Amino acid sequence: MSVNTSFTEPWSGYLANAEWPSTPRLVLLALINIPLLSIVLNVLYQMLPRSSSRPPVVFHWIPFFGSAAAYGKDPIEFFTKCREKYGNVFTFILLGRRITVTLGPQGNDFVLGGKHTVLAAEDVYAPLTNPIFGKDVVYDCPNESLMEQKRFVKVSLTVDKFRSYIGMIDDEVSEFLDHDPSFRIYQMNDINEWGSFFVLNTLSEITILTAARTLQGSEIRNNMNKGFAQLYSDLDHGFTPLHWMFQNLPLASYRKRDAAHAKMSEFYQQILRDRRASQSGHEEDDVMSSLMKQHYRDGRPLRDHEIAHILIALLMAGQHTSSSSISWAMLHIADRPDIQEALYEEQVKFFGTPDGGLRDVVYEEIRQLPVLDAAIRETLRMHPPIHSIMRKARSDIPVPPTLGAPSEDNVYVVPKGDIVLASPIISQVDPQTWQDARTWEPTRWYDADGVAAQANKQYEEGVKVDFGFGLVSKGTVSPYLPFGAGRHRCIGEQFAYVQVSMIIIALIRKLEFRLEEEFPQPDFSVDEFEIYVYLAIATMSSSLPAVFVLVIILGLMGCAWFFTPKGANQTLIRTSCMLTLSCCYLMWMVTFLAQVHPLEGPRRSLVEE
Ligand code: HEM
Repeated sequence: MSVNTSFTEPWSGYLANAEWPSTPRLVLLALINIPLLSIVLNVLYQMLPRSSSRPPVVFHWIPFFGSAAAYGKDPIEFFTKCREKYGNVFTFILLGRRITVTLGPQGNDFVLGGKHTVLAAEDVYAPLTNPIFGKDVVYDCPNESLMEQKRFVKVSLTVDKFRSYIGMIDDEVSEFLDHDPSFRIYQMNDINEWGSFFVLNTLSEITILTAARTLQGSEIRNNMNKGFAQLYSDLDHGFTPLHWMFQNLPLASYRKRDAAHAKMSEFYQQILRDRRASQSGHEEDDVMSSLMKQHYRDGRPLRDHEIAHILIALLMAGQHTSSSSISWAMLHIADRPDIQEALYEEQVKFFGTPDGGLRDVVYEEIRQLPVLDAAIRETLRMHPPIHSIMRKARSDIPVPPTLGAPSEDNVYVVPKGDIVLASPIISQVDPQTWQDARTWEPTRWYDADGVAAQANKQYEEGVKVDFGFGLVSKGTVSPYLPFGAGRHRCIGEQFAYVQVSMIIIALIRKLEFRLEEEFPQPDFSVDEFEIYVYLAIATMSSSLPAVFVLVIILGLMGCAWFFTPKGANQTLIRTSCMLTLSCCYLMWMVTFLAQVHPLEGPRRSLVEE
């Protein structure tokens, strides 16, 4: 007791006499320190003991922002490091959202094989895809309708159609090689010279041209001019993390996305009206004409806008996935002369004619080309275009203990509202499953009893389930699932295989490839800087910042007014502060207005007019 008295007395005297800053000064101090304070509180919060049934949360410094930079920069490296530290199940914060990741074949099975009433794809993807695909299709309709729409597309992509597509794709590639300026040396027929072309740009153009010619129909292919390319590009620029975070913002990219969707939808619907009106008896052999004849289970035919929006969805869903796969395949082929040679030899062996030429390919023969098949599978193993597959948990979901558990007698529970994420690429490059996992080695697919062939067998020949669009192999537990699995398994798989194969065949037959520079590393392209820019653009390109900054300036003016000490120069100091702040505001406004326009970057045209 006595110790206490003697200790507090001197302090009580000090505290009584201490000069405390005034309340406004304290408020100002607190405001300035809010960012620092929030970081400290966020770190302390993460150190608090938490329910052991919750998956561990990846440590992050900045609240809301979370692990966005690490994930955006290189998701594979991020997941691999987190797996080493936390195991197969962990949660990370991505721009305010909780994402629970489940890795490995069991993790894939957990997400892709989950019931759609509990793990919903539309709850995650809808904000991103609905404005691009449009109303009443894919994720803007009940899951049962999506399954029916997948059935409509599936019956449109019959073996007969694929047979006719082979020749069309071959024609398109030949046409491109004969006329595109990047293939000038080829056009000059000079076999001693080497030409060069930008792989991704060129193969993206070839991909969209071949998809338009085959899937989309002749009207679309004939209209593949700069106007259409611009519409496509404006829609494509709507596929960014910013558009996923905020469905609508007063930004140019959003306005262009919506205008492009409206125009493209109308374009397709006009074709539908024209086709009905022409009644020429001639029927196009494409997906549109097939969709025009389909009916939902309740007998209702597809409405024009639904057909238009399904076609937009197919165009958008198939473009990046196929073009990135073809690009990676060609890069690896150029990097491995032995495989390139084997691919050419395979063509000669299967299609060589007595006069030394090569005959046309027939659809049924495509899958019987072991070297080509291995090259495509190996490319999809190492570079599946979709690295993160997400669903939203509609209720608390217990995680199977074999996938990950806090202890022997406890299980993790994914809380309702979390986004659950599977990343098949992690199991596709897992060194515990694959030898030299990060090396592109098509020969691993030749051995019928090898790991690769077995994984593929598990993927393709597992238990068959009909989710509403015909029987598909469930295949969720395979370590190799480039086209996803379960009810959301890719509907364009067979088409993509035909398209990728035929483009590679057409190129290999006519050209020899080698790399001009070092082999490129995957570029996931959402780096730290870009995320900051997204956030900055979200704030900058609207009219709100002008008001927002004005309020701050007025606040600072108020502070200058109240905090200027009394004295002879008080009026002079106050006036100087006011003038300085006003000038700053005006200069900022000029800079801001000047920057809004350049924020809309230049667009690359896809096709020459
Ligand atoms: C190499 C090429 C392709 C790859 C690797 C690929 C991969 C995938 C994957 C992994 C999914 C599952 C997404 C999820 O579960 O959330 C998917 C879904 C989908 N794919 Fe593909 N895809 C390719 C080409 C195509 C093409 C050419 C089309 C159109 C003709 C297409 C149309 C779709 C559609 C509509 C879905 C959504 C299905 C649903 O949610 O039920 N894909 N794709």
